[in-house]
Amino acid sequence: MRVLGIETSCDETAAAVVVDGHQVLSSVVSSQIDLHARYGGVVPEIASRAHVESLTPVVARALVEAGIGDDHVDAVAVTVGPGLIGALLVGVSAAKTLALVWDVPFVAVNHLEAHLYAALLEDPNLELPVVVLLVSGGHTLLVLMEGHGRYRILGSTIDDAAGEAFDKVARWLGLGYPGGPAIDAIAMEGDAAAIRFPRAMLDDGYDFSFSGLKTAVVNHVRRNPEAHTADVAASFQEAVVDVLVTKARRAAAATGARGLCLAGGVAANSVLRERLLDACVADGLRAFLPSRSMCTDNAAMVAAAGWYRLNADGPSPLDMGADPNLRLV
Ligand code: KG4
Ligand code: ZN
Repeated sequence: MRVLGIETSCDETAAAVVVDGHQVLSSVVSSQIDLHARYGGVVPEIASRAHVESLTPVVARALVEAGIGDDHVDAVAVTVGPGLIGALLVGVSAAKTLALVWDVPFVAVNHLEAHLYAALLEDPNLELPVVVLLVSGGHTLLVLMEGHGRYRILGSTIDDAAGEAFDKVARWLGLGYPGGPAIDAIAMEGDAAAIRFPRAMLDDGYDFSFSGLKTAVVNHVRRNPEAHTADVAASFQEAVVDVLVTKARRAAAATGARGLCLAGGVAANSVLRERLLDACVADGLRAFLPSRSMCTDNAAMVAAAGWYRLNADGPSPLDMGADPNLRLV
């Protein structure tokens, strides 16, 4: 079954064609980063307008790259939430229209669930249960994936999301937007042991807190204006990764999970990937690391999650709307 996936929840306009939840025929992502960079973050109204302009050509390219005509799509899956309401509505309206015109099922997909399926898409033999560390610009969740569509949230952030912390710290350090890739790059030239930043709630359950760390970075730079930016970035990144990996590892041990899986934009981080891999080797766990392009927002993961949803629940009703605050469970 060929599923066309559509993703417009934030600042990426994406479309993809995926066969049976794992064979990616095409995955097109049109990023709006250049439009938002001058504002230092995503401007919702600009995002919505850019989606309107880009979506039709992006879908057309996904079909061409997949080598199929529009009469060969068997279902249309789209992110219905969580995300920016105006941005979501563009994708949802387009997906419903295409499903109606082509007379194929419409499938509503939760963006967080789509991120969880990114690893499964590349490794369909992934053995469940696994603990998934979902770290993006809007979310930080530690999830036990017990089966398809069966999730238990073990922990989440009580303030900033991990990606948000990267973006805010990068902005403060003058490294531009988005901050994650910028910090990742400059940290390679810095000393991660230069500054011992706090690890909030390290020994305390599965929840996370990153706003204190952000303040600690700001205070450190104010007090030590001569500090090397690369050292600050590397030390900040080290603190974030330390907390994320420590808690994910503990969760895997406590739940008897067979493996640890990364998902979401921050999962593209080099040090996080390296540390998670080391932890899995040390603990005898399987590591599932989606390729970097599958970690950040894309529509292939939406098409994959949509295929599983369609098999489990059938098509979604066409009167189903976008929900900016949609939860995983
Ligand atoms: O999943 P995603 O593409 O969009 C959301 O659903 O939020 O995640 C975007 C987030 C941004 O905060 C970005 O700075 C972060 O992922 N990110 C990274 C890296 N690449 C992207 N954070 C750390 N290291 C990276 N290499
Ligand atoms: Zn995302």
